[in-house]
Amino acid sequence: MGGCFSKPKPVEVKVEVVLPEKEREKEEMSPNGKASPLAYKANGTTRLYHHEERPIVLNPYTNPKDMVEASVCHVKDLENGQMREVDLGCGKALLIKQNGDFYAMGHKCPHYGAPLVKGVLSKGRVRCPWHGACFNIATGDIEDFPGLDGLPKFQVKIEKERVYIRASKQALQSQRRTKVMAKCIALSNYSTAITNVLIIGAGPAGLVCAETLRQEGFSDRIVMCTSEKYLPYDRSKLSKSMDSQAEQIFLRSKEFFHTYDIEMLTETQVVGMDSKNKRVVFKDGFRMEYNKLLIATGSTPKTLKCKGKELDNVFTIRTPEDANRVVKLASSKNAVIVGASFLGMEVAAYLCEKAHSVSVVELENIPFKKFLGEKVGLAIMKVIR
Ligand code: FES
Repeated sequence: MGGCFSKPKPVEVKVEVVLPEKEREKEEMSPNGKASPLAYKANGTTRLYHHEERPIVLNPYTNPKDMVEASVCHVKDLENGQMREVDLGCGKALLIKQNGDFYAMGHKCPHYGAPLVKGVLSKGRVRCPWHGACFNIATGDIEDFPGLDGLPKFQVKIEKERVYIRASKQALQSQRRTKVMAKCIALSNYSTAITNVLIIGAGPAGLVCAETLRQEGFSDRIVMCTSEKYLPYDRSKLSKSMDSQAEQIFLRSKEFFHTYDIEMLTETQVVGMDSKNKRVVFKDGFRMEYNKLLIATGSTPKTLKCKGKELDNVFTIRTPEDANRVVKLASSKNAVIVGASFLGMEVAAYLCEKAHSVSVVELENIPFKKFLGEKVGLAIMKVIR
């Protein structure tokens, strides 16, 4: 067993952080409106939580030198249900009018930077035009995948029929907001083999689970394990940017996992589970006990069932190495892709400039017919032919 992190060792962590009064008030409610577990422990002036002091994370309005305020339009310039990108001089914001109220937040999707003004505004949410991430206009929180971070939220005021936005310059630049998260509290009396939450699988589902637990104030041990040798990465990129290295598509940095005490075990395969005794067994014989277990191992590629599937030049794509190898071997050759799904078509698009020819084989007569309908499928077919 190896990888980016070694097996957990007994450590003693005792952290005390004093939070200013204003910060405490802000954090005492979780985004869903329930009292946060953070608030429960927030009696007095100290608490056993450790927050990373990133100004943008905690409160974009705390540093007066970092603030900018600008008049961006007349109240009548926007109809209800409209969005507009507005410039504050040192960065842009997305201004939204819904039910007579104005809202302002980051204008770029934190996932891959899509302009949200081209997305869809509906029932208090903006949906990204590229891959469909969804953001709450009142809080800037991300409410639907893909992506992990929310948007910075800016203050709006109306004065003499003019709309003013007050924003942190830093937030305007970053266009993303990572929520405040708890860390592990003192762990002086636990054994190496006991964990609180064990997550098998290091895809987006497992990672979002770990992050959400920390965001909601969960301050016990979290362990994620994966049979792959990398930290969680964006697998969906493998069909779009096939020569990516794993490090280029990590969902979070190594420092992030250290900062929030999310333990990652790489190249670690679970081969047995005893749910009665709440224990898993790894391939190398190591056993780990848990209180709660999440199995989020994802799926595996569907392989061909026909003769010839075992040939050396037939591949499926699951890891960065798989994708890199396909690009290398397809260069200046005839490439055949079986299946006209989103992945198949993305691979076809990527290989078009590298391979001598690209052919897509599909059972249906029109691509995407099942998901997008015949009309849209036909239009796509015209474009790609
Ligand atoms: S760029 Fe917005 S969801 Fe991907």
